[in-house]
Amino acid sequence: MTIETDDVDALRHHGDAEAAPGLLDFAVNVQGDGPPEWLRRRLAAGLATLGSYPSEAAHLRAREAVAARHGRTVDEVLLLAGGAEGFAMLPKLEPTLAALIHPSFTEPEWMLRQARVPITRVVLEPPYQLSGAAVPESADLVVVGNPTNPTSVLHPASEILALRRPGRILVVDEAFSDAIPGEPESVAGKSMPDVVVLRSLTKTWALAGLRCGYALASPDVLRRLQVGRAHWPLGSLQLEAIEACCEPAAVAAAQERAARIEEQRSEMAARLTATGMNVHGPATAPFLLVEVPDGDAVRSRLRARGIAVRRGDTFPGLGSDHLRVAVRGRTETDVLISALEEIL
Ligand SMILES: Cc1ncc(COP(=O)(O)O)c(C=O)c1O
Repeated sequence: MTIETDDVDALRHHGDAEAAPGLLDFAVNVQGDGPPEWLRRRLAAGLATLGSYPSEAAHLRAREAVAARHGRTVDEVLLLAGGAEGFAMLPKLEPTLAALIHPSFTEPEWMLRQARVPITRVVLEPPYQLSGAAVPESADLVVVGNPTNPTSVLHPASEILALRRPGRILVVDEAFSDAIPGEPESVAGKSMPDVVVLRSLTKTWALAGLRCGYALASPDVLRRLQVGRAHWPLGSLQLEAIEACCEPAAVAAAQERAARIEEQRSEMAARLTATGMNVHGPATAPFLLVEVPDGDAVRSRLRARGIAVRRGDTFPGLGSDHLRVAVRGRTETDVLISALEEIL
């Protein structure tokens, strides 16, 4: 079955819909089977505080940790229930035309469409580089992912910032930036009045179920984004996790993991290429975009063998021959490769 990418419901299709229990999961880009032991212990200790409302002091501590991690001021930090909440807030900026750079994560488009914001898709052709992207001058909101899901392309920060225009807000989704050693091309540390950076703690820390992320932007933009937000927007455990994951030891651990991902990715890319798949490169993120004839059938056959990969055709600009595969360790990759060798 092919999903028409004009089908708005398809924009709500994410990898988790393909990763049923019992399947070997290459569909969701979360690292590992849950948060590390030290983080679990901290969260478990936090259970004792659940009788109280989340405190202002805990909220501030978490914001301070984020600010220190990125060299920003506390008033430039907005804590979020995952990067996804940041996308849900974008209509509050009251854009008159939002440009979405595709192929990319589809949640921002879904959210903007829900709010009846006029949108335009800027669909990049392979190799999915930003240079020459035809963003209408009239777009007063532009959303771009860096590194981009699902292409795994990392755009130079200079090309990202070249999208700025007077009167425009530029939103950079850096959900996977912490999975790249050194976080090159990130603009999270730069204070600019018109740039919003969205970060997620979901992927690297395997915290998808807790909903943790944050936005970095000017105090004025953050104030506009929060209009109408519920009181106590984040729970105590979310605040604890955000603070913990932004402490220097955690950032260092994430960087170690990023280095491991880099090795695993290049090994995996070579092995996938050897099966006859076309692997899009250079890849930088903890996932690979691959193209294979009859991709839909390949995906179904993998599923029949207990392996979930993410379909590509719900991403505007991609088709059913595209698949996205999460970077995993050698044991899991062995299983995937031997299944592909049989299928292809
Ligand atoms: C590119 C990208 N950005 C943002 C998100 C949102 O992540 P979360 O809301 O879990 O922080 C995702 C989740 O899949 C993603 O792939």
